[in-house]
Amino acid sequence: MKAIFLTGFMGAGKTSVGRQLAERLGVSVVDTDEMIEQKVGKSISEIFASEGESAFRKYERELLKTLPLQNIVVTTGGGMVIQKENRDWMKKHGIVIYLHCEPEEILRRLAGDETRPLLKQHNKQELIKRLLTERMPYYQEAHFIVNTTHRTMAEVVDDIVAAL
Ligand code: S3P
Repeated sequence: MKAIFLTGFMGAGKTSVGRQLAERLGVSVVDTDEMIEQKVGKSISEIFASEGESAFRKYERELLKTLPLQNIVVTTGGGMVIQKENRDWMKKHGIVIYLHCEPEEILRRLAGDETRPLLKQHNKQELIKRLLTERMPYYQEAHFIVNTTHRTMAEVVDDIVAAL
């Protein structure tokens, strides 16, 4: 089985869905944010604060190329798709699945979240809408799009398995 890359905005459920999907398919799962944190020895917030977003994007770009490309589910950070090089890599070497979630639902899920540096702004609602709109064309380059809004994890995993 080719690698499955789960993409989507923060709060779309990539990490939780990825774990269940991998279990269902009997393959391993890795999370790019976690791998970067381990490699660099800092949390994502610390990387953004001390090295800046562009350094983090470089870590994402480099890490992607080191991942196994068979029998694996890869859950990606919400901004992995920003770089064309990453989109092309994922699409060429794996199956890319975009987990779509409506901005209102994302806001609800991330309301009290303090771990995501990009969301440390006053008007979270506006920011989420703007970033989601900006990134939508990139997310939509995926092979498959699965809606996670108001849906249970099991339903989302079923949809993905049916699409494969
Ligand atoms: C980001 C999403 C985060 C993390 C970083 C930047 C983004 O991952 O990679 O904070 O640019 O959307 P999650 O989507 O897992 O929250």
